[in-house]
Amino acid sequence: MSDRIPVRIGLVGYGFMGRTHTNGYKRVGDFFPELKHRPVLKAVCGRSEQRVREFADQWGYESTETDWRVLIDRDDIDAIDICTPNNVHAEIAMAAAEAGKMILCEKPLALNAAEGAQMVAAVEKAGVPNTVWYNYRRVPAVTLAKQLIDEGRLGRIFHYRANFLQDWTIAEDLPQGGEALWRLDVQAAGSGVTGDLLAHCIDTALWLNGSITDVSAMTETFVRERMHTLTGKVEPVGIDDACAFLCHFQNGSLGLFESTRYARGHKALYTLEINGEKASIRWDLHDLHRLEYFDHGDDSVVRGWRSVHVTDSDMPYMDRWWVPGLQIGYEHTFVHQVADFLKSLDSGEPCRPTFQDAQETQKVCDAVLQSAQERSWKTV
Ligand SMILES: NC(=O)c1ccc[n+]([C@@H]2O[C@H](COP(=O)([O-])OP(=O)(O)OC[C@H]3O[C@@H](n4cnc5c(N)ncnc54)[C@H](O)[C@@H]3O)[C@@H](O)[C@H]2O)c1
Repeated sequence: MSDRIPVRIGLVGYGFMGRTHTNGYKRVGDFFPELKHRPVLKAVCGRSEQRVREFADQWGYESTETDWRVLIDRDDIDAIDICTPNNVHAEIAMAAAEAGKMILCEKPLALNAAEGAQMVAAVEKAGVPNTVWYNYRRVPAVTLAKQLIDEGRLGRIFHYRANFLQDWTIAEDLPQGGEALWRLDVQAAGSGVTGDLLAHCIDTALWLNGSITDVSAMTETFVRERMHTLTGKVEPVGIDDACAFLCHFQNGSLGLFESTRYARGHKALYTLEINGEKASIRWDLHDLHRLEYFDHGDDSVVRGWRSVHVTDSDMPYMDRWWVPGLQIGYEHTFVHQVADFLKSLDSGEPCRPTFQDAQETQKVCDAVLQSAQERSWKTV
């Protein structure tokens, strides 16, 4: 008990991610008891005084603020957790870095790579611990995929394929702007599916398969005008509703990525498949505790795709949870990220992806959007 080091959290934004992160802070100590650093729910910040109070009461924060600048100025806050729409990440992160706070920032890091570069420079100048919540790296099955690739089980990689499909913006009368719908407003989001969904696929791909060298992309905006909830007027839609791109990886493999919010029937279908010389793997967010694996080295009479149930205690993170055969879910990826961040404070090692790592995804997103606009290949 006595050697525990508190990390006093100041959370900005109490929406979807505010809840997943808070759940992570609350549960981490029970499942990772060896960690010295421990989160303390010190303050939550949001613009509505009443709603931020309700959130603090429900989730157990000690205090509230309505201005993130005041939160950052507080001496009793060690870490700023940024859970706001994309257009406020940079401002908050740079002020937090200057104030010497640790920073946990939601993805995408920034609106674009130029803004991302400033954020990377700010945390490096300040020397503060930093991480970006690309949480899919911490799905045990995805972490297991990383282990299998690093052990050389796939051999030379030929193909990387990823999709992230949704269907929630098909209705033409869905407005843009405001709560949750900020994703349809280019000013708040920076881009559409590219920064929102493909950024996840790109982060995982860079982690599993290395750098992307060049891209050729197409984007489409199917609904060109939508009512803006903040202005009350029908305004042009500036985001990409769908995006598909081809790419080359540094290791010589070919990449194929697709994302849309117009795939009727799909809610959050993130799938990836990697084909190597010796083996292939595939993974599906809707069945996130399974890793499909095909090993060409198997005896030919029993060779085939195996569906590995990633629940045994020698599999990534699974020694922390229940017993073999019992799976965990989406929310645990955030518990894992909190645990890995706290572990990084114990060890002094960075918690990946850092701002610098996440900036690589930002550069690929920029190249994708530029390629689509110019209808030509772009170097990352
Ligand atoms: N890692 C993931 O899987 C994942 C999933 C969803 C969203 N995200 C990212 O998380 C971030 C937030 O997304 P969300 O789904 O939680 O959005 P949300 O709309 O549910 O919540 C956003 C919150 O930010 C608050 N906010 C907006 N502007 C603010 C300001 N200036 N000061 C203080 N608070 C402000 C809103 O009031 C709200 O509480 C985005 O960057 C998004 O891309 C990541």
